[in-house]
Amino acid sequence: MNGYYHITTYGCQMNVHESEKIAGILSDLGYKATEKIEDADIAVFNTCCIRENAENHAFGNIGMLKKLKTAKKNMIIAVGGCFTQQMGKAENLHEKFPYVDIIFGTHNLGKLKDYILKKQTVKKAVIEILEDDGKVYEEIKPLRTSYPNAWINITYGCNNFCTYCIVPYVRGRERSRRSADIINEAKELVALGYKEITLLGQNVNSYSNGTDDLSFPQLLEAIAGIEGKFRLRFMTSHPKDFSEELVKVISRNPKICKSVHLPVQSGSDVILKAMNRRYSSADYLNKVSMLKRYIPECTITTDLIVGFPGETDEDFIATLNLVKEVGFSSAFSFVYSKRDGTVAARMENQVDPEVSKRRIMELIATVNALTRSQSEKYVGTTVEILCEDYDNKKNMYLGRDEFGRMAYFRSEKDVIGEFVNVKINSASGISLTGEII
Ligand code: SAH
Ligand code: SF4
Ligand code: F3S
Repeated sequence: MNGYYHITTYGCQMNVHESEKIAGILSDLGYKATEKIEDADIAVFNTCCIRENAENHAFGNIGMLKKLKTAKKNMIIAVGGCFTQQMGKAENLHEKFPYVDIIFGTHNLGKLKDYILKKQTVKKAVIEILEDDGKVYEEIKPLRTSYPNAWINITYGCNNFCTYCIVPYVRGRERSRRSADIINEAKELVALGYKEITLLGQNVNSYSNGTDDLSFPQLLEAIAGIEGKFRLRFMTSHPKDFSEELVKVISRNPKICKSVHLPVQSGSDVILKAMNRRYSSADYLNKVSMLKRYIPECTITTDLIVGFPGETDEDFIATLNLVKEVGFSSAFSFVYSKRDGTVAARMENQVDPEVSKRRIMELIATVNALTRSQSEKYVGTTVEILCEDYDNKKNMYLGRDEFGRMAYFRSEKDVIGEFVNVKINSASGISLTGEII
């Protein structure tokens, strides 16, 4: 054994899964996981830069390690991910935190092992940020930490260039894994007993784009056809590519959860255009109607941004109206954050932070009211919950139904990884409480 590792992850589900790949690399090197960063011989920070606060959060935590590193000279600190991939940021990081030993980007996970081995022999920091080479690497095996849920990447990168978004700059162009590799991975996971598989990509609907025999709906259906009881989810769907063919596949395959994450961002056509989203609010609502026509019970979650440059009160009201009209079951609401290098960062009419603050509060209140009223409808019903974890504070098990609603319940025996029927007795906001029947 080489000692202990600790990984701190920021950002999206894709980063969470990437941390599982980092864990795979570290365990291959003989390191074992520890929950406590103070015990770590190698501490890895897998960063995000989607909004400024994601960056600040990481900076704060890396800053706090100085003391530990001074006391524990041989500890290796490595920082990678989307933040370091941004132009010039690796150098900034090195200047600000000279005690960071390894700095790598999003395109060099395959070389992390070499960096660690090198760092064990040299004194100075190992810094390398590679450019996107357009390739898909299959050799890094994740050490999964999320049983009974498992994530599978189907695409990497993004070609959409929404004007506010940094992802295409730090994750490179969209590329797809081979369907045969994806299907094999899914089969292995089901055989190992995983009960929920989530396919990941920035825009899963554009999977393959002609580079594979299967389109996204065909891939999804092929995975849904694997024997065994499990749930299948996917994220994220870009509304412009959300097709009727896909909806038909969701509707006819019971293993595919009847819940779709479909980020709308704004309800204003002016703002949607300025964001380069390539759909109008009417296009979005038409897709929602089409979805509800095939699958009336399907729930929809979304992402929303307030305070995009030029957003007026009318634009914001259009967003509130769309939110109410669709009746999202939940939503992630964000204040626009200016990202260097993006098109929107160069727009002149940036919104006053106070205005954005007022809008986000109102939006969150609107979304929460929708979530609450949908949760209340659960009381008295019985739902099938996939038990995912045990909450030590509440002394209860928890899990989600196919629509993603969280439920807490007690059980005599360990039911993590099992599907259980839970009668819902009460609802509070986003979560439910009930009893196994
Ligand atoms: N690929 C996905 C989402 C990726 S990022 C999609 O297109 O839907 C997740 C969410 O972060 C986005 O949906 C958006 O709502 C938000 N986001 C991205 N850039 C942002 C920025 N600069 N400021 C605020 N929110 C942002
Ligand atoms: Fe960013 Fe848009 Fe790509 Fe999503 S689709 S990752 S929001 S550029
Ligand atoms: Fe994800 Fe953040 Fe990168 S949201 S893709 S980790 S910028």
